[in-house]
Amino acid sequence: MSKIIDDILSSLSRSRIFRNRELLLPDYVPEELPHREEQIKRLVEILSPLMRGEKPNNIFIYGLTGTGKTAVTKFVVKKLHEKISNSFIYAYINTRQTDTPYRILADLLENLGSRVPFTGISTAELYRRFIKKVLELKPILVIVLDEIDAFVKKHGDDILYRLTRANYEMGKSKISFIGITNDVKFVDLLDPRVKSSLSEEEIIFPPYNAEELEDILKRRATLAFYNSVVSDDVIKLCAAIAARDHGDARRALDLLRVAGEVAEREGAEKLTIEHVNKARVEIERDRVYEVVSTLPFHSKLVLLAIVIGVNEKKRTLTTGEVYDVYTKLAKKIGVESVTQRRVSDIINELDMLGIITARVVNRGRYGKTKEVNLAVNEETVIKAISEKDSKVASLWDR
Ligand SMILES: Nc1ncnc2c1ncn2[C@@H]1O[C@H](COP(=O)(O)OP(=O)(O)O)[C@@H](O)[C@H]1O
Ligand SMILES: [Mg+2]
Repeated sequence: MSKIIDDILSSLSRSRIFRNRELLLPDYVPEELPHREEQIKRLVEILSPLMRGEKPNNIFIYGLTGTGKTAVTKFVVKKLHEKISNSFIYAYINTRQTDTPYRILADLLENLGSRVPFTGISTAELYRRFIKKVLELKPILVIVLDEIDAFVKKHGDDILYRLTRANYEMGKSKISFIGITNDVKFVDLLDPRVKSSLSEEEIIFPPYNAEELEDILKRRATLAFYNSVVSDDVIKLCAAIAARDHGDARRALDLLRVAGEVAEREGAEKLTIEHVNKARVEIERDRVYEVVSTLPFHSKLVLLAIVIGVNEKKRTLTTGEVYDVYTKLAKKIGVESVTQRRVSDIINELDMLGIITARVVNRGRYGKTKEVNLAVNEETVIKAISEKDSKVASLWDR
């Protein structure tokens, strides 16, 4: 018997599709970054004073998600460091993951070789230790702060202000910053002093077009898949879909990877258009699940009200009708409902997330209302709500 199991396991573990699936994961930094030559060149030029042991200007990098900002920055900083490791040290911090001022400072200190307890010290004290440590340093410190838009929206820009002031405070120019943002409009939220300090130099990452994405996918596919598993048609389709979605290379790579996983699960030998389409559905389902399951409580309740209302009435709902169903549901589980105004806001938020559609219609003398409908798979929504929130789940009985 155990021979059967061994055979199955070994045939499963011997992929016929992937030579190396890891190469398609989002965090992998490839050795080749086609169509970003200009950005790489600019970044190297701006950082070149490091060769003389001088502090480069601060750099602000903008571009939509999946335009290669993180990959290019990590690539350039790492390569430079390999060449001139004596003249600078660097720290890369993704501020969406390392998402408190305390953790950022602790991370920086740890990068400089100081151990920091998880709690118990004030942020101000950490900041003092950090300054002291940097003053003791010989080389320049390059700090990459990635996804600062997400961080600033949560915590404000106080820590950025402090960090970018550190050079003045020390009376020595020893730290260079590279700030990266996915949200181009975010700059308006920044304290003007932080903004002007960070944007001594700016590099813009434009979205990729379909041909560029094709190129990127081709090169990565050659390494990640076995020969002749992936046809040009498959690559073209993934590139076209991602190009429509603001030229996002991450999305293109995800599609290709998930299509490969689908093909593997089905025991296929090659990737087909069909696999890409299935991958698309799967990725969308995961996205909806992720978005819905992390919604705040009342947003989930409003969303459930929409699902229930649309099912009952077999048509789109007005904002008023959504509110009625919502208040009934809230009453049933004994929670206080939020105001109609707030429910309106929630409806707009759900619309922006692409979970529902809310189309404004003019009803003549009755004024304006919205036609609200679910925009995604109902089953996924219910699953996401009920697996993460038993109270809301108890309201769904079918
Ligand atoms: N020019 C490129 N060549 C190869 N892979 C790329 C290129 N640009 C982006 N990628 C890949 O696409 C994904 C998203 O890129 P990333 O740098 O994380 O984008 P951003 O930081 O702008 O959101 C990563 O897996 C990255 O390796
Ligand atoms: Mg990034």
